[in-house]
Amino acid sequence: NWTAANIVEEAVAAIRAEVGDAKVLCALSGGVDSAVAAALVHKAIGDQLTCAFVDHGLLRKGEREQVRDDFVRITGINLVVADAEEQFLTALAGVSEPETKRKIIGREFIRVFEQTVREIDDAEDIQFLVQGTLYPDVVESGGGEGAANIKSHHNVGGLPDDLQFTLIEPLRTLFKDEVRAVGEELGLPHEMVWRHPFPGPGLGIRIVGEVTRERLDLLREADAIAREELAASGHEQDVWQFPVVLLADVRSVGVQGDGRTYGHPIVLRPVSSEDAMTADWSRLPYELLEKISTRITNEVREVNRVVLDITSKPPGTIEWE
Ligand code: XMP
Repeated sequence: NWTAANIVEEAVAAIRAEVGDAKVLCALSGGVDSAVAAALVHKAIGDQLTCAFVDHGLLRKGEREQVRDDFVRITGINLVVADAEEQFLTALAGVSEPETKRKIIGREFIRVFEQTVREIDDAEDIQFLVQGTLYPDVVESGGGEGAANIKSHHNVGGLPDDLQFTLIEPLRTLFKDEVRAVGEELGLPHEMVWRHPFPGPGLGIRIVGEVTRERLDLLREADAIAREELAASGHEQDVWQFPVVLLADVRSVGVQGDGRTYGHPIVLRPVSSEDAMTADWSRLPYELLEKISTRITNEVREVNRVVLDITSKPPGTIEWE
């Protein structure tokens, strides 16, 4: 019978044996898998590990702080952060087409990541790269990859071929619930350990239309409200994921106070799923949906309408782009 403490102990011993005194790199995405993998490796080899985090400016509210501040404070990990918001926004300027956005974000990610790694002290001594691959990824050759011909998936940490490292995959034998237990055991922040899946291209593919800083700020506010209310309602673990989407190219007429408004709709896309290959729209309580809707229209400037997506997958995908 396994316990999280046993798993940690075994993983630490295995990592020490494999790495020796070499240097190791890990790309953090803000997600649970890379965070737990990094924390495990850090427990095993301490300062031989350096983590890199590309802040592409497409994260949700509080996520960069969670990685930069909370995670670092708890683990004591060496973290280099690339502040690349400007670079990503410049590259995305004028682009609305979803596949083009994905390609641009993937390309810029690799550029920024390579540059960041080169600037690490003794970068040439790095021999190993940590990846948060889980057991289901190993057996199915990749969760969600069935959708790869529909949308070009970009996983943060997806690296170019000329960065030659030996992979360390300390979560290779674990399922998601075990990874979460290990994360709790290592004392990682609760919100990080229980986070829903979030796509590598981030909010960039949750704005239908061009991605701008103003639009990202609106979406971040709306998304934070939805997440906050979902958590407060106790229904967080009933849904697989809860994308919140800004229809930036759509406006509709509304009324607020004495005035007519002409604002943007926000789409709520809560889904239930086992593996993201198929999904059903979540039957969340009306009171919760009402609360989210009222708060978003009251608190988020320029948003005057909230709609609920009741499409299963297929035919809809989970994300709108
Ligand atoms: P779709 O929208 O295809 O999404 O139903 C299936 C699952 O994959 C996530 N997703 C991504 N994850 N990089 C990722 O790491 C991506 O480019 C990407 N696109 C979609 C999506 O959030 C859902 O969990």
